[in-house]
Amino acid sequence: MRPCDRRVPDGIVVAAPLVRREAPAGRVTLVHQPSLQTVPQGVTPVVMLDIASWRPRVAAVDVEHHARALEAGSVLVLPRLAFGIEADETRFLDVRWSDGKAKNISLEGQAIKGARGAADDLAALARMVGRFAADATALVGALFPRYAAHLLRARTSYRPFGAAGRAVSWRKDDTRLHVDAFPSRPNRGERILRVFCNVNPNGEDRVWRVGETFEAMARRLLPHVRSMYAGESAALAALHVTKGPRSEYDHLMLGLHDRAKADVDYQHGSAQREIRFAPGTTWICYSDQVMHAASSGQFMLEQTTHLPLSALYEPERSPLAVLERITGRELVRRNAT
Ligand SMILES: [Fe+2]
Repeated sequence: MRPCDRRVPDGIVVAAPLVRREAPAGRVTLVHQPSLQTVPQGVTPVVMLDIASWRPRVAAVDVEHHARALEAGSVLVLPRLAFGIEADETRFLDVRWSDGKAKNISLEGQAIKGARGAADDLAALARMVGRFAADATALVGALFPRYAAHLLRARTSYRPFGAAGRAVSWRKDDTRLHVDAFPSRPNRGERILRVFCNVNPNGEDRVWRVGETFEAMARRLLPHVRSMYAGESAALAALHVTKGPRSEYDHLMLGLHDRAKADVDYQHGSAQREIRFAPGTTWICYSDQVMHAASSGQFMLEQTTHLPLSALYEPERSPLAVLERITGRELVRRNAT
């Protein structure tokens, strides 16, 4: 289960890229390319894990290796880990199940949202998405046992629409490089860990661009993010714009999200690389840390999990720690975390 990787001088793990290869039955499979992809210095690393179970047994040495790679801002790619869609669930791989209003279909607790259909169908759809939630949660727990007791499972989303081509504002345009930050849900430095799986039935890859490391991005863009106004946090909470007070950390993360998306020169000119996730591929990253953009692809499942900094191996690599180092001040009141 060791990733196919090497250590480069700055300690960043890089991995062999995915390569599509025709199997005898005409099916496309993924293999590790023997030679290493040339990765621009300072760009998000990719680490491939040869794991084909949602509940793998992982050696202790590998557990720490994978966790440290993840916390360093890598994308962990599991090209042999497909989500099992039952025969009678393939009908859900269709945009007609969307209610046409929400961007995604989502499961929060037992409630399926953003979907339309007969009650029986929606219950079956909820079971499918719920099974992915259970699988993704089990995977994170098995890969990172140290995290298990601290995981806070959040929304599970099923994304039937194509990643590109939707008419959205630049701020909501996820085809632009960004880190995840939520305007209405301040997290005060808590991590956003996401598990994704491409379930496209037509052989279509999910394609991402990933950008430079979080610290490089923050050092470049933070000078362009305005400071919080006096009383801004209390006003947003009082007006119910946010659920709870927005910390300065949350403010800066939103500012970085917006600044990166709004800056066309940054989008095209910053260091970046493309990653193609074939159908049947699962991948994991801290999406509050990895600069990412969904270029194309359709039909994906995603599980969001939150994690306190205290659960990390290296909290000093977290976005909160990086931003506090750059700004030289506390960005979250510690008694509020
Ligand atoms: Fe995102």
